[in-house]
Amino acid sequence: MMKLLIFAFIFSLSSEKKGDILKTGEKLFKKGTCSSCHNLTDKKKIGPGLLGLFERLEKNKKDEKWLKEFLKNPSKMIEKDEYAKNLFKKYKMKMPKTRLEDEEIDILIQYLKEATKIENEESEE
Ligand code: HEC
Repeated sequence: MMKLLIFAFIFSLSSEKKGDILKTGEKLFKKGTCSSCHNLTDKKKIGPGLLGLFERLEKNKKDEKWLKEFLKNPSKMIEKDEYAKNLFKKYKMKMPKTRLEDEEIDILIQYLKEATKIENEESEE
């Protein structure tokens, strides 16, 4: 029964709620102050421009679980993970811990998946 509920939940997330996720995600990107350090384009702000983020992560064999862990505690990830360490070296600054709740981070990740897709750029500008 539990499995079925979870499935139903995920299914509803992936269909009609998608628009909501994008709207909420956009707000969370501001609320989490991500937008003060990150562009959704390829332009560097204080941190890396996030365009093509998931393609980049995939190339480096990082999944969503990795991303969530990174967002929750970048410094800890920088200590143990080569990819995060190199980002830190490149940007010479550690990203601060996110204050967002777990569920908010999940939504934010779903939002980022859409908002950082490479083909977005071309159609928007
Ligand atoms: C004070 C500035 C600052 C804030 C706020 C911030 N970041 Fe960052 N972020 C950075 C810096 C600097 C790096 C690169 C160095 C590092 O990894 O710590 C980074 C790295 C990242 C990366 C890895 C990028 C890549 O190219 O692989 C992601 C993803 C990311 N941030 C997402 C977020 C999200 C989502 C938020 C909001 C919850 C956020 N950041 C808030 C500064 C910031």
